[in-house]
Amino acid sequence: MTVPLISPSILSADFARLGEEVRAVDAAGADWIHVDVMDGHYVPNLTIGPMVVKALRPHSDKPFDVHLMISPVDPYLQAFADAGADHIIVHPEAGPHVHRTLQEIRRLGKKPGVSLNPGTPAKMLDYLIDEVDVVLIMSVNPGFGGQKFISSQLRKIEAVRKMIEKSGRKIWLEVDGGVDPQTAPLCVDAGADVLVAGSATFRGGPDCYAANIAALKGAG
Ligand code: DX5
Ligand code: ZN
Repeated sequence: MTVPLISPSILSADFARLGEEVRAVDAAGADWIHVDVMDGHYVPNLTIGPMVVKALRPHSDKPFDVHLMISPVDPYLQAFADAGADHIIVHPEAGPHVHRTLQEIRRLGKKPGVSLNPGTPAKMLDYLIDEVDVVLIMSVNPGFGGQKFISSQLRKIEAVRKMIEKSGRKIWLEVDGGVDPQTAPLCVDAGADVLVAGSATFRGGPDCYAANIAALKGAG
């Protein structure tokens, strides 16, 4: 079975010690660092902005996987690119012109990603797939960590895997929300190669991070 990459969501980290937390998950085997940016408008929660991304940047050499749940999104792309984001992932609904947004991320020298909410069909990718390096399937409704995995999204992961194979390009297929050692293998079997995990990475505190990440990779 494919061993997935793990992208811990720092939404579940101790916000008073974010730099240390990023160093700890990096040392514990994280492949990417997932940063959830929320605006209290596109989603009903507020988190962090580009200044925090910039402050965290020196704490890890791993790719920063920046998930923007903000609307409008275009006015902030440059700031996140300058702050050190490697992947910039946007939601089509955050609009107004997602195709142009993805091209702009590419122009900024970053890897563009598109994220599909649980209610958004795989078909949304038909005219976007050639523009992206990452597809992020939301297996919870965006806004909060610690929610229950929505199993219907496994079918979407399978459908998107087929679309990626057909594209002939390397595109990461990432799953976000409710991923734990029980749901991780289901996602991988359906075709995912990167798993975001907030609660399942950070539970138990720093002494548990390495075992938590190993368990998500299927070695626990
Ligand atoms: C939800 C975020 C997720 C979330 C994952 O809007 O995009 O990245 O933090 O948290 P867990 O792994 O706890 O479901
Ligand atoms: Zn996320």
